[in-house]
Amino acid sequence: MSNSTSPQSIQLLEEGEGATFPPGFVWGAATAAYQIEGAVHEGGRSASIWDTFSHTPGRVLHGHTGDVACDHYHRYRDDVKLMAELGLKAYRLSVAWPRIQPDGHGPGNQAGLDFYRRLADELLEHGIEPWVTLYHWDLPQAIEDAGGWPNRDTAARFAEYAELTHAALGDRVQHWITLNEPWCSAFLGYGSGVHAPGRTNPGEAVRAAHHLMLGHGLATRAIRAARPDAEVGITLNLYAVSPQTSSDGDADAARRIDGLANRIFLDPVLRGSYPSDVVADLAAVTDLGHVRDGDLETISTPMSFLGINYYSRHVVAAPVEGVEPEPYWRAQSCWPGSEQVRFVTRGVPVTDMNWEIDAPGLTETLQRVHRDYPELPLYITENGSAFVDELVDGRVDDADRLGYFEAHLRACHTAIGSGVPLRGYFAWSLLDNYEWAWGYTKRFGMVYVDYESQRRIPKSSARWYADVIRRNGLAAQ
Ligand code: FCB
Repeated sequence: MSNSTSPQSIQLLEEGEGATFPPGFVWGAATAAYQIEGAVHEGGRSASIWDTFSHTPGRVLHGHTGDVACDHYHRYRDDVKLMAELGLKAYRLSVAWPRIQPDGHGPGNQAGLDFYRRLADELLEHGIEPWVTLYHWDLPQAIEDAGGWPNRDTAARFAEYAELTHAALGDRVQHWITLNEPWCSAFLGYGSGVHAPGRTNPGEAVRAAHHLMLGHGLATRAIRAARPDAEVGITLNLYAVSPQTSSDGDADAARRIDGLANRIFLDPVLRGSYPSDVVADLAAVTDLGHVRDGDLETISTPMSFLGINYYSRHVVAAPVEGVEPEPYWRAQSCWPGSEQVRFVTRGVPVTDMNWEIDAPGLTETLQRVHRDYPELPLYITENGSAFVDELVDGRVDDADRLGYFEAHLRACHTAIGSGVPLRGYFAWSLLDNYEWAWGYTKRFGMVYVDYESQRRIPKSSARWYADVIRRNGLAAQ
């Protein structure tokens, strides 16, 4: 198998040694609009697919919604102060499309643009560079009503929104991320339906993936046309994928899942083509008739960087006749054409999401992208973990989360040492927040949020991260 790496090749990392990062390494933290802002009816904002989804009974655990979330829309000044206290060099935020184009088209809504201008100004005044993600899953409901991402026109709508948001913020913002994790938008949103808009149609999921990438290419061109020196990239959620055993069947399962999780985005965006084995795997689902001449050229418009979100490894095995696979994250239908592949747990430590902790997989993922695709600067735009936190005497001692960050930063350091051009790291997340279909039940923050009082309490991991930033690396243990 040429495109994924066997477990045997995982390198053991130097344990306990100090690790200094290259000068200028970007130390940041990330959030997303719907997960923290609240104020869903203010400033002319309209409904997004996540408002509709979260207000539909049965979709989100305990019926939690993002109506209030961390109330960041009103508390952004205090939140930026907190970021400055932690010494963050950069902050990755997302713009809520329904604040900018409440009806999904037309001129920018002034109140919405002004909010992000004020936020960017506040960050810059504190010496923190804003990194803007244009789409972190909150499609205006009006666009979903017109067909959503399976509809080709949504790509053009997105480019228009990107252009006018850039026109309003381009004097303040240098780094632009078009999409966050199109895999989730397409395959969880339209395949398994566990994310908004909650549709379950494998063919539509594949169409959505294509139109998301087309939107990315068109938006990249629009921003570049307005400002040739803008830094524009995309964020993909990449997984290390490995077979359970060295059998041919398991190797094929790993090839399939690597194809549908990673290469279905990496290849079009970075090589201008769909991987032929993935096209063959998808044959029963779609003939890719929605792909038009010139699309792949647009999709592969050169980028300034690639953003990678890394959380875990998939270990997979061949289907077993007559045995239904354990659902992957509540439904197998997010793997069109490969629904029978089995996801295997290895009994290694997991986070509160039940995701296996696999820091070497991060090194492997970075090295693989560097080896298999044209060279470009890489950033970890998300990495982090949910654990059950306990607030005791006003403190949260989150040793597990701290350990997760440390192991993954060591993995980044190892990758850099082997020649990978990794230029920065954004911890997920600054604050505990609305974890999509899990509502407020999963805490990923370095800063604890007491949702009743909206008090913010930096956890031990936040204090530790501040120290990492100060010394530009990890202390020897
Ligand atoms: C990623 C999302 C982010 C957050 C983390 C835990 O898939 O981009 O919003 O939910 O997972």
